[in-house]
Amino acid sequence: MDAVQDRTFEPKIVGFLCNWCTYAGADLAGVSRLQYPANVRVIRVMCSAAVDPVFVMKALLGGADGVFVGGCHLGDCHYTRGNYFTRRRVAMVKKLLEVIGLEPERLELEWISASEGARFAEAMRDFTQKIKALGPNPVKERKVS
Ligand code: FES
Repeated sequence: MDAVQDRTFEPKIVGFLCNWCTYAGADLAGVSRLQYPANVRVIRVMCSAAVDPVFVMKALLGGADGVFVGGCHLGDCHYTRGNYFTRRRVAMVKKLLEVIGLEPERLELEWISASEGARFAEAMRDFTQKIKALGPNPVKERKVS
């Protein structure tokens, strides 16, 4: 089915959010009553560096349409250099996605602080739109039941 024409497609997005920054930013977006699509299922992690590439691959191979990783801005990680590792890992996983025939755009990394509720809401809107344009995860069609 052509995803661009499928206006009913609502992506399932898994969001790994760092406890100290992006999760707090999501909380701020909520208490500020900022509107953003309800497509993301949030998983709180203590640092973006705790997002093992296996978690990302498992989510996507399990049928999630997109994975969002949110962490503290570079230099602000509560574990000093965790998000520098995250940046490298995400780049590596994007290459791996290409190798297995999935669009690397299905994985997004953003730095969003606790005070950036509006930025969080905007990132959710943008990423949901991006995934809607990509269409459903092709892995779902490849699955043999
Ligand atoms: Fe937030 Fe490390 S504690 S990215």
